Amino acid sequence: MSFAKTITLSTGASIRQIGLGTWLSQPKEVENAVEIAVRHGYRHLDLAAIYQNQDEVGAALKKVIPSVVKREDLFLTSKVWNTSHKSELVEKELDKTLSQLGVDYLDLYLIHWPVSFKHGDDYFPADPKNPGCVELDTVTSLVDTWKAMIALPKSKVRAIGVSNFTIEHIEAIIKATGVVPTVNQIESHPLLPQDDLVAFAKEKGIHLTAYSPLGNNLKDKPKLTEHPKVIEVAKKLDATPAQVLVAWGTRRGFSVIPKSVQENRIKSNFQQVELSQEDFEVISAIGKNNHTRFNIPFGYTPKWDVNIFDEPEEKPATTRPVLGI
Ligand SMILES: NC(=O)c1ccc[n+]([C@@H]2O[C@H](COP(=O)([O-])OP(=O)(O)OC[C@H]3O[C@@H](n4cnc5c(N)ncnc54)[C@H](OP(=O)(O)O)[C@@H]3O)[C@@H](O)[C@H]2O)c1
Repeated sequence: MSFAKTITLSTGASIRQIGLGTWLSQPKEVENAVEIAVRHGYRHLDLAAIYQNQDEVGAALKKVIPSVVKREDLFLTSKVWNTSHKSELVEKELDKTLSQLGVDYLDLYLIHWPVSFKHGDDYFPADPKNPGCVELDTVTSLVDTWKAMIALPKSKVRAIGVSNFTIEHIEAIIKATGVVPTVNQIESHPLLPQDDLVAFAKEKGIHLTAYSPLGNNLKDKPKLTEHPKVIEVAKKLDATPAQVLVAWGTRRGFSVIPKSVQENRIKSNFQQVELSQEDFEVISAIGKNNHTRFNIPFGYTPKWDVNIFDEPEEKPATTRPVLGI
């Protein structure tokens, strides 16, 4: 076991293969979690405006920059939320994020979802015409937002990318602009290997970051950390089940961003374990004929009436992402 390795992005920048996730990290928890993580050696932090905790992350950063780490040795990722997809809003939202974090630049800025919402103060604006649903902005396209990302000053963002984009979405923005996203951040774990997207990303030189690497923390389903095969491999390697799941992702070349607010888990999740081909295959087999995508916004409350991934659950949706080509 060793601390997380570093890999090189298409921009030439380095990213640690294991980062800290911060979604659902509550106020009073996330400041502590980030501080512990950085003191322990984490350098890659996954953040987003919608997590509504970037002020607290900023408070933690103040405690560790520059006493523990130089700003340039950290890799900070954040994401533009769906209510700020219009070209004139993207840089404003970035500025807000920079001010919350108390930093001058991000290492990576992502379009969080390939879906635009009506702009306003509410992160999930209610649609008066579609009760129970979010009001979508079906005018602003992915290409519009991608062009605004491209136009962001390099002094404020070192690299730009996307999240939850399918091959079709990425092809559209590349076709329109010629600019390939540096990163696509996607849900991936043994139940959702995303082989097609992995092959496509490899061909285009896009780095993939795997979110929810331990399986989602929202569902009432057995956790992947409790899966008998994961436990079996963990016992064999004298590792934790979470380390085995993270190792499955790092072996596929992903960067992996497990979330925890518990000190012992923050520390152990950062120990990079190597899986042999045999153990990798045992873990991969968990997902054979068992395809499970946890994060489908069509099932959220309020619902996003949009078919993003073409999963069976999304078929009744009445809209699709607006590509703009
Ligand atoms: N781009 C996107 O749309 C998107 C979507 C989802 C997530 N993300 C990013 O990806 C990060 C990770 O995904 P996630 O939060 O959905 O799920 P995850 O990291 O796979 O799982 C987090 C859950 O596992 C628990 N956990 C952490 N370490 C553990 C360990 N060693 N053993 C057992 N349980 C452990 C955590 O609880 P404790 O905190 O109590 O340890 C939490 O309940 C997010 O925080 C966010 O930064 C991005």
